[in-house]
Amino acid sequence: MGSLTGKNIVIIGGTSGIGLATAIQASDEGANVWAVGRSEDRVKSAASQFPNINFEACDTHDLDGLAKLFKSVGTVDHIVGAATGANRTMKPFMEQTAEQFSEAFDKFWGYCNVVRQGVPHLTDTGSVTLVSGTPARKCNPGMSSISCVGNAVEALTRALATELAPRRVNVVAPGTTNTGMFDWMGDKKDENLANMSKGILLQRAGLPEEVASAILLTLTNNYMTGVTIDVDGGQLLP
Ligand SMILES: NC(=O)c1ccc[n+]([C@@H]2O[C@H](COP(=O)([O-])OP(=O)(O)OC[C@H]3O[C@@H](n4cnc5c(N)ncnc54)[C@H](OP(=O)(O)O)[C@@H]3O)[C@@H](O)[C@H]2O)c1
Repeated sequence: MGSLTGKNIVIIGGTSGIGLATAIQASDEGANVWAVGRSEDRVKSAASQFPNINFEACDTHDLDGLAKLFKSVGTVDHIVGAATGANRTMKPFMEQTAEQFSEAFDKFWGYCNVVRQGVPHLTDTGSVTLVSGTPARKCNPGMSSISCVGNAVEALTRALATELAPRRVNVVAPGTTNTGMFDWMGDKKDENLANMSKGILLQRAGLPEEVASAILLTLTNNYMTGVTIDVDGGQLLP
């Protein structure tokens, strides 16, 4: 297994949830970590809590900003794309406008930008890990947009794994995970997530740290490429 000690790791979407948990675990393993999100407030708040991590503000849709970020890092050992990066409309397909449906793909275009800007800086032994989600392969009514985006991310991962070898490219697919993505639920967040998860095998929402540990596996297992790892409490099974 590869060690993360002294490795340069860029985590886009690293100021909250799964990306932040990955940043903390990688930093604890001795990596030099750059963790990125759009909000300056989140960057400042995270930087004050985790002084060993370099937090930066950048949007996945800002090509110049990404180029500057990767140039400032220099040689990159691992890239993680964990940004939510889009507005999603959770309605049946026939009730969405074309604009609403295509807006969800901003997550995908953001990941494409991260790969285009980051890979020229990646070492030959380096890796890219993207984050999709369980709806890619288990789509309930109202989830068409996130399902299609998740499938696009997983298909891109396999395509890139063939094109970028010997650099490795993998994807981690979380199930319902208790992160900032659900902060809009306010005081009802924990209760709602418990209700959303009670029908799955492990009967609870996941923790960002549980998804992060799978991302760390993709960084450190030097024989793993083109793979999708599900961390979903059994959500894919009936
Ligand atoms: N939580 C779940 O249940 C779940 C389930 C399936 C899949 N996922 C996927 O897991 C990934 C991580 O989500 P999470 O749950 O950890 O969400 P989160 O806690 O909301 O964190 C999202 C991170 O992405 C950053 N971000 C969002 N849009 C960005 C953009 N355009 N450019 C740069 N950074 C951006 C956010 O910071 P700013 O907002 O400040 O930019 C934040 O750091 C996402 O791809 C999400 O779709 C999550």
